[in-house]
Amino acid sequence: MTTVESPRPAPATGAESAAPAHRNVALIGFMGAGKTTVGAILAGILGFDFLDTDKVIEQRQGRRIADIFAHEGEPFFRGLESSLCAELEASEGKVIATGGGLPVNPANLASLHRHAFVVCLWASPETIYARVRTQHHRPLLQTENPLESIRDLLARRTAAYREADLIVGVDFRSPVETARHIANAFRHGAARA
Ligand code: S3P
Repeated sequence: MTTVESPRPAPATGAESAAPAHRNVALIGFMGAGKTTVGAILAGILGFDFLDTDKVIEQRQGRRIADIFAHEGEPFFRGLESSLCAELEASEGKVIATGGGLPVNPANLASLHRHAFVVCLWASPETIYARVRTQHHRPLLQTENPLESIRDLLARRTAAYREADLIVGVDFRSPVETARHIANAFRHGAARA
């Protein structure tokens, strides 16, 4: 898939006027797309608080994601993600960077859409691989052929990622450019849900 700028079309009828404004911005997308880096910059631009779901889970659990996967298994981690996701519905004025697998659960994605302008950072498998190849904290990429794993997982997740309100290609944008782009879109479009 090529990188795209694809705002989701607004409803055709007057439904938007009845909908509440987006209170938050949620960043979704594959591991290594830059959600944490862009999210922190975006929060600064908007004057919002920044929150990273992986970091919150690690803090609450007192251990790294890799340890949670290794000792409790992935389903346990996904349960923590879903609980946190539901909790975040009460948030206001937050930029939320989500773990790459969080929106794959349709209930989590629906939850984000209820309160946040949902933005997908889209990176090609090659860009992701170049960024994560020297990192070892992501259990799902500790495989014999990480590039192949990225391609497989990304293909399986693409439909979920495409449900974002806005998809921003990051292969040729710096984190600051990406954050500014999202801030503009949020300011101009997020007043209507
Ligand atoms: C995961 C992505 C990670 C982390 C966990 C699982 C995934 O977060 O939640 O390792 O399933 O894609 P990042 O996207 O921040 O790396």
